[in-house]
Amino acid sequence: MAKLGVNIDHVATIRQARKAACPDPIEAARLSEEAGCDSIVCHLREDRRHIVDADVIGLKKTVRTRLNLEMSAAKDIVDFACRIKPEQVTIVPEKRQEVTTEGGLDVCRNFTKVRSVISRLNGKSIDVSLFVNPDLKQIDASVRAGAKIIEIHTGEYANASTGKARAKQLTILKKAVHHAVSIGLEVNAGHGLDYDNVTDVAVIEGINELNIGHSIIARAVFVGIGCAVEEMIGRIK
Ligand code: PXP
Repeated sequence: MAKLGVNIDHVATIRQARKAACPDPIEAARLSEEAGCDSIVCHLREDRRHIVDADVIGLKKTVRTRLNLEMSAAKDIVDFACRIKPEQVTIVPEKRQEVTTEGGLDVCRNFTKVRSVISRLNGKSIDVSLFVNPDLKQIDASVRAGAKIIEIHTGEYANASTGKARAKQLTILKKAVHHAVSIGLEVNAGHGLDYDNVTDVAVIEGINELNIGHSIIARAVFVGIGCAVEEMIGRIK
């Protein structure tokens, strides 16, 4: 069964809407772990629009499973990760104006930079994952850059507006996962997954972990985060 990483960014989004002290992402992480998730994911964006530095520092101290810090390859953020030492970093592309991460990292185009960031983080005993589109060229470049883990972007699949388009994207995802596993990568997946569309992805053989945020936090508003996480684990099962 694929593991579940819970992305708690949007707990911080609600807090930042009022620049208040609550809701606390650290409490959300604790309750998600109690409900059985396998890791906690947060994205420290360059504009600090939701998660802020103090959250990551607090999560590093309190997370009992594994902290997966999503971040860009910008130098000051990489410096921060080297100081805090989360168990894992996932490198994502970042644009200031985007509402959420729009696409995968272009490892081919940014090869030298990505390779040097992986090497720096690995030097601090931090596992590094690259968030890439389900594109075989990007997957091959990830291995050449020294990545041992990738996260495949499921956004195109999640946004497909017809059954036919979704089936096509699912085939692309399966091919990408199969290829990545065959060349020795640990393969995670995420973005846009919800309680309905997660099941077809969860059964793809070779997927290690699914990283899910928005749909879980949206459900948590009505049922509480513990129930929302348990329900998602149930759907993955
Ligand atoms: N994985 C990565 C790399 C992401 O950037 C995000 C969004 O922060 C997610 C997973 C979670 O996506 P969603 O919030 O759509 O579930």
